[in-house]
Amino acid sequence: MAKVLIAGRALGALNGEIRIPGDKSMSHRAVMLAALAEGDTHIEGFLSGEDNLSTAAIFAQMGVAIDWHNAAKSALTVHGVGLHGLREPVGVLDAGNAGTCARLMVGVLAGQPFHSVLVGDASLHQRPMARVTDPARLMGAHIDGRDGGSKLPLAIRGGALHGMDFEPKVASAQVKSCVLLAGLFADGATRVREPRPTRDHTERMLPLFGQPVVSEAGWIVLRPTDLLTAPQATVVIPSDPSSAAFFAVAAALVPGSSLRLPAVGMNPRRDGWRRIFTAMGGVVTMVNSAEVGSEPVADLEVMASRLHGVTVAATDVPDAIDEFPLLFAAAVLAEGEFLLHGAAELRVKESDRIAVMADALNAAGAQVEALEDGARIVGTGHLAGGCTVDAHGDHRIAMAMAVAAQCADAPITIRNAEAIATSFPDFVPLAQQLGMNLQWSEAAG
Ligand code: S3P
Repeated sequence: MAKVLIAGRALGALNGEIRIPGDKSMSHRAVMLAALAEGDTHIEGFLSGEDNLSTAAIFAQMGVAIDWHNAAKSALTVHGVGLHGLREPVGVLDAGNAGTCARLMVGVLAGQPFHSVLVGDASLHQRPMARVTDPARLMGAHIDGRDGGSKLPLAIRGGALHGMDFEPKVASAQVKSCVLLAGLFADGATRVREPRPTRDHTERMLPLFGQPVVSEAGWIVLRPTDLLTAPQATVVIPSDPSSAAFFAVAAALVPGSSLRLPAVGMNPRRDGWRRIFTAMGGVVTMVNSAEVGSEPVADLEVMASRLHGVTVAATDVPDAIDEFPLLFAAAVLAEGEFLLHGAAELRVKESDRIAVMADALNAAGAQVEALEDGARIVGTGHLAGGCTVDAHGDHRIAMAMAVAAQCADAPITIRNAEAIATSFPDFVPLAQQLGMNLQWSEAAG
């Protein structure tokens, strides 16, 4: 039976410490590089959300053995088969809801001298894929698919690829990473120049597997190789800043709160939400800065804060791209105008995040104007709630609305929220532990 998430005003301050699960983007990349390396890679802090489990299952279908070391599936050993050791899959490869899995796998599959078919769920089948199939074809892969290969399902027969210089039109870490992964199978150097810098987890992680990535005059350069080597040291994945942000914003919104989030990933290309939220008056302090693997981490300390609207700088958009549903919710509960432009990419995420968030927040009594490439929000510091909204199967919409509801006058019922399990399966129990007011309920009718 379908479930709904019912979220209402927090009954008291949100106090304590919450350990956030591992980073989704890094978990995908760790399994991919480990599978393509020679030797065994030990990974800890893996996020066992549905998206990452899809990536692991896809490599298992191509002959990669994975040992899971705990019930939570956060620790694993991947028995890498080397760059040329994957086997032709018998069945279709299912990326589920995961755009990162699908787009990065296009790069991996482009390098394989066999046939594969990549599919996903209904949402993923609507999302643009030409941004990755075009460069993979330019490098030499044969790709056919729906709508000329611009939508899943895709049929890929890869093989001998050529390196190339590529300048994507859209600032996308998924596109960049697809091309770099294909570059592992290319006979020359692969170079990418981005319109704006995006998350660089692929570039930071490849050197752990013995493959340097250098930056030359604005180009990200991967030289030809035929070997990735499993790292001696365990690959430790820090807590996901995109997941941490939900609790940080909730604690800032609920009066009297004080929250600590240990060892959260602080990659500057993921930290846009904190810069924007701090500019809005959110009190989020970084302490105990350190390095984990090749990524910066820090503990975050959050205090209840008085928030006001801001105009988001265009340069902050890629660094906060996943946090705008949450920032929209915060903006409604802040005072004054919040203005976002330059974020048209939000329309092609797991849902059209501009339209879906505007509908959901306005149903709850907010003043959100959806713009083609962003939103204008008139914050009143107040939300009526007392409505049912639709998360459209988008995990971040569901969690953002659950956070907004902590300050609403009346509860908000969130339909199609089960997708929370794609990126943050522990969200509801951890939120309850912190004192947030939310619970699953059977949907009526
Ligand atoms: C991701 C990149 C971003 C982000 C997604 C994860 C990644 O997508 O929205 O959640 O892991 O590379 P785009 O590259 O499409 O902006």
